[in-house]
Amino acid sequence: MSAPKKLFIKTYGCQMNVYDSERMGEALASEGYVATDSADDADMILLNTCHIREKAAEKVYSELGRFRPLKEANPDLKIGVAGCVAQAEGAEIMARQPMVDLVVGPQSYHRLPELEAKARAGEKALDTEFPEEDKFDHLAKRPKAARGPTAFLTVQEGCDKFCAFCVVPYTRGAEVSRPAERIMGEARDLVERGVREITLLGQNVNAYHGHEGGLAGLIRELAAVDGLERIRFTTSHPNDMDDALIAAHGEVEKLMPYLHLPVQSGSDRVLKAMNRKHTAEEYIRLIERIRVARPDILLSGDFIVGFPGETDADFEDTMALVHEVGYGQAYSFKYSPRPGTPAAERSHVEEDVKDARLQRLQGLLSQQQRAAQDAMVGREVKVLFEKPGRFAGQMVGKSEYLHAVHVQTSRIRIGEIQPVRIQGSNSNSLSGVI
Ligand code: SAH
Ligand code: SF4
Ligand code: F3S
Repeated sequence: MSAPKKLFIKTYGCQMNVYDSERMGEALASEGYVATDSADDADMILLNTCHIREKAAEKVYSELGRFRPLKEANPDLKIGVAGCVAQAEGAEIMARQPMVDLVVGPQSYHRLPELEAKARAGEKALDTEFPEEDKFDHLAKRPKAARGPTAFLTVQEGCDKFCAFCVVPYTRGAEVSRPAERIMGEARDLVERGVREITLLGQNVNAYHGHEGGLAGLIRELAAVDGLERIRFTTSHPNDMDDALIAAHGEVEKLMPYLHLPVQSGSDRVLKAMNRKHTAEEYIRLIERIRVARPDILLSGDFIVGFPGETDADFEDTMALVHEVGYGQAYSFKYSPRPGTPAAERSHVEEDVKDARLQRLQGLLSQQQRAAQDAMVGREVKVLFEKPGRFAGQMVGKSEYLHAVHVQTSRIRIGEIQPVRIQGSNSNSLSGVI
């Protein structure tokens, strides 16, 4: 047998890309590839890219530039671009960057082995179709090797919401749910391999309809799997938070008290212009209902500042909404015009205004994040231990609320869940004792 070929995958963007990279690695493993941590000795480099904001998309080009010397030194090295930039501008990349051998869009990963063979034969290989067949059906079955205690599992892909700023409906295509039996099979497989926490993924995961009971039904079925201890899901749209899912937060013990529920803006005018199809008030009422079901839930969100037409008053509405909701965690971004989306054609807010708004919003959000963390001090949380810490004898894991928790101990093994008394709150993590 010939020596295995080495595959280096670099992943940008959201958790769905993390999941896809893992599955691409598995698909190419059946073609004789083993993973490597360094681009320097790779036979194939795959960039799994993100197109969500301009900065994210630009990284592809700077990264390709860094790989040029490797390609010059080793003409047999194959370079591929996958993910959402591949979908959005793959053909252009291939035309402009001769060093790129392979381009594959997010819905075509099951065709990677063929594309790889084509690239190996010295041809250019490109596939950015939205094929009829389900890519997951064709991807190699996950191999039974042991793995870490947490895993992502994509249950739904694509989006039909068409928020005016967003490329996802174009790069990932229409909303598609995977059948529940497949997900259950994959989940059992992961649990056999040592996984104790599964995060269900979808661009609009709570619109999942592959189970007769929707996402809540799938969660309840998963909760019955022995050995699976924790369930999470992300990302949700407020309009798809139905009663069954809210109730599950109060009733399913394995469903963790953490919810990422982006609102983007607190101004009704801006929400309308964004095509979000709900008001700030409706969002706040929804949060209230979720908190009735699960009072200790930690909320996370996404915000965009400087959306076209956003005035000072609109921005103040966003600040007011954040004050009212109180987030434990959140991401905020300056609006970035994306080619092909409706908002890109509108007149833009000045860059320095966006900067100032982002600074104020991030100030408030990090204050809230710190307060939520500090409030954990003195409490007992359950930690799923994931890896050794940076210092000798230290272990790191996550609490129910997704806070990183450091513990000094020699008794804990990876994959164990233990009660921890929180003693300290640091800039980005907690510390405590068993
Ligand atoms: N499907 C998820 C989010 C996908 S993108 C949802 O609907 O919530 C993740 C986040 O990136 C979005 O929530 C939004 O806050 C941000 N985002 C998307 N497009 C953007 C753009 N053009 N400019 C700035 N931020 C953007
Ligand atoms: Fe993008 Fe909106 Fe769909 Fe989320 S819901 S992926 S922000 S279009
Ligand atoms: Fe980025 Fe595509 Fe995810 S654009 S955020 S990698 S769906």
